[in-house]
Amino acid sequence: MKTLLLASALFAGLFGSLAAAPAPGPAPGPDPSTSHAYCRTTWHFETPCGDISNTLAKQIQDSSPEYKLVIFTPSYIKANHTSDIPEGEDIGLAFNPTLMTKECCVTAMSTSFGFTSRLDDGLNYCNLYNLLLASDLNSSPGFKETTNKWACPGYALATCKAWRAFILK
Ligand SMILES: *[C@@H]1O[C@H](CO)[C@@H](O)[C@H](O)[C@H]1NC(C)=O
Repeated sequence: MKTLLLASALFAGLFGSLAAAPAPGPAPGPDPSTSHAYCRTTWHFETPCGDISNTLAKQIQDSSPEYKLVIFTPSYIKANHTSDIPEGEDIGLAFNPTLMTKECCVTAMSTSFGFTSRLDDGLNYCNLYNLLLASDLNSSPGFKETTNKWACPGYALATCKAWRAFILK
């Protein structure tokens, strides 16, 4: 927790101005079969955003070295994920309190740095969903996920399984 607070203060100071940058969709390329594979999904929780962002940031740190926390502010998390695909994936999580202030809507985006098939066997989807599984947030009160095949082309192919080592932590 101490590390987390320190990281938070550090990143808020160094990167605060970058924190609001939204994750852009992929630019259309000349070859539609390869691209920067991506997945965007939305999570709704009946829990305040501060608790959700702390839990996810801690899960990312506990899941090192596969995940690396790059930026952590109360409204935005940026992380790297290492996979078999060269350069890995960029993960962005934006936390928006809803009108009901005790609820939180999270826009989660994972994008491959390298060029790869847009149908990524659910890799980018699972990069996001595994964080929920590992931290048990997928079974928190009122949890709902919204995505579709345009926002997340690999969604239908995904079979995500969190690593047991993460769950035991
Ligand atoms: C995250 O990945 C990018 C692209 O590979 C790299 O430039 C950056 O140094 C990485 N950040 C951390 C904290 O590992």
